[in-house]
Amino acid sequence: MSDKVYDVPSQWAQKAYVDDAHYQSMYAASVNDPNAFWGEHGKRIDWFTPYTKVKNTSYDPGHVSIKWFEDGVTNVAYNCVDRHLETRGDQVAIIWEGDSPDESRKITYRELSAEVNKLANVLRNRGVEKGDRVTIYLPMIPEAAFAMLACARLGAIHSIVFGGFSPDSLGGRIADCGSKVVITADEGLRGGRKVPLKANVDAAVNQIEGGVDHVIVVRRTGGKVDMTPGRDVYYDEAAAMVTDECPAEPMNAEDPLFILYTSGSTGKPKGVLHTTGGYLVYASMTHQYVFDYHPGDIYWCTADVGWVTGHSYIVYGPLANGATTLMFEGIPNYPSVSRFWDVIDKHQVSIFYTAPTAIRSLMQAGEEPVKRTSRASLRLLGSVGEPINPEAWEWYYHVVGEGRCPIVDTWWQTETGGILITPLPGATKLKPGSATRPFFGVQPEVVDAAGAVQEGACEGNLVIADSWPGQMRTVYGDHERFEQTYFSTYPGKYFTGDGCRRDADGFYWITGRVDDVINVSGHRMGTAEVESALVAHPKVSEAAVVGFPHDIKGQGIYAYVTLMDGVEPTEELRKELVAWVRREIGPIASPDLIQFAPGLPKTRSGKIMRRILRKIAEDQFESLGDTSTLADPGVVEDLISNRQNKR
Ligand code: PRX
Repeated sequence: MSDKVYDVPSQWAQKAYVDDAHYQSMYAASVNDPNAFWGEHGKRIDWFTPYTKVKNTSYDPGHVSIKWFEDGVTNVAYNCVDRHLETRGDQVAIIWEGDSPDESRKITYRELSAEVNKLANVLRNRGVEKGDRVTIYLPMIPEAAFAMLACARLGAIHSIVFGGFSPDSLGGRIADCGSKVVITADEGLRGGRKVPLKANVDAAVNQIEGGVDHVIVVRRTGGKVDMTPGRDVYYDEAAAMVTDECPAEPMNAEDPLFILYTSGSTGKPKGVLHTTGGYLVYASMTHQYVFDYHPGDIYWCTADVGWVTGHSYIVYGPLANGATTLMFEGIPNYPSVSRFWDVIDKHQVSIFYTAPTAIRSLMQAGEEPVKRTSRASLRLLGSVGEPINPEAWEWYYHVVGEGRCPIVDTWWQTETGGILITPLPGATKLKPGSATRPFFGVQPEVVDAAGAVQEGACEGNLVIADSWPGQMRTVYGDHERFEQTYFSTYPGKYFTGDGCRRDADGFYWITGRVDDVINVSGHRMGTAEVESALVAHPKVSEAAVVGFPHDIKGQGIYAYVTLMDGVEPTEELRKELVAWVRREIGPIASPDLIQFAPGLPKTRSGKIMRRILRKIAEDQFESLGDTSTLADPGVVEDLISNRQNKR
């Protein structure tokens, strides 16, 4: 915690969309009369048929239902592309910066229109219609944005799977939503290394009964891949056969736009479903106000489109606003640790949005790689994905931003569709480590374990008392799970899964997850997923996974593993298990530390006491709490004496 405060610079208060007084009055209006507020702001997108109803939402247990602008008709691709053609057809929509600094490309809104329509026609020729699901497994190349918008244009529901997920994870996601079409690339390229995307798709599809009907393969590296006749087609060959005109399907505001799988505390990843109208209104409005986006800004969000940040703040929000959005294929330290700053200079980026884990890793390389670049174009910095520690915040502010650029620390989730708690740069003073105040229409509350709402300065669990337009609508195919996961812990409220503190100024400080979800380098991971991967190994009898504090990643993955009788706990087996998890889930789930444990701390009823495992992983041996309810208190001593050290 830091008690530093940075006041809003006066030129920001004057030039930004909102200053503090304006924020206060808009916020009050947004929560006092959401129908009037969103009825007005819903007009920021174009509607084929205007809505007459605005908010129709219920958090009532057993009847959770969320609808916004429900009788309006529109199309997301129309809003992100077509409506800009008349006024800014020749403006750059997407700047693409390749993995290698020698490769970049600029795509105007007019070119974007042609590309999206072609891809939509390629899908349409393969039978894709409104409501069909299409899985996208692409690297960070412009075709990823074209594919998203092409689906939106046809009314097909895209499900993007991050390129770092294994064939198993990909297959599970294709099967869960019943995609019949997959869009991929021959290979991805990251930090000079190739990622075998098409081979992964082949392996994934082979596990699915009935397979898929079509695999569309974008040539990225030109590497040789297996093509299954009748099923697989190279995108460039298919695109050569179609026109660049394709009508935009009229979509009801509540028709689905996309599914994005995310981890929870139990079970397999959930298909978070977002719909059309409310999502786009919310993504575009937050993009404009939070980043104080003005025409002429060059805006860069370093996320991957495989995560929600890429959906809302690389593609949909910025393009709905007619912005120039930069898409980066590479990684922060290739070919050098100056890469981010070099790209900022090369493309004259004015708004830069990245994750604390990237900041921490670059901070380790010192100031020189930053200072050798200019960064004069920068005027605003953003952070997302996990709590930012004050040291990283200060470094970002003073070294990267040279004390000139406000930092917006944006708290939100896959489920929320857009940013919920954040500073507005012309309105909100900054406190390093605090996401500060709610965005318009967002009503955060802090509750204690029993659900009692806390007043004033307090600490507890973060809930949101009422709906906002960008909220997820359901878990795809499992509405009951949606209600259970988010609305049953504190009935009548949306439970975020995060803990938080509210200070005397009413500022929020997110303290991290209070459930069995961990956040590794800003990637969300369910400990249960890693556990089930581990126990699938023939030599493993039992596993328990917890997070532990990690200097760069924020949290690392700590696995306690009990082996089958007679299996030797060797260093080799440890490596084998790490490789196994990588193969089962993907590299982002690799355990950092594996401790072989003859026994796990369990209650007499057999429940694993994770609280104790967490404390051991955190080196907090003194605060293990009550261990007297354990079936065998002796296991704790063994666990402590064999604690694995951070490497
Ligand atoms: O714990 C919070 C953390 O990331 C979780 C959501 O993860 P995901 O759905 O993958 O979305 C990440 C990008 C929006 C949250 O429950 N989180 C995200 N942003 C912040 C954060 N924690 C603290 N501060 C943030 N700014």
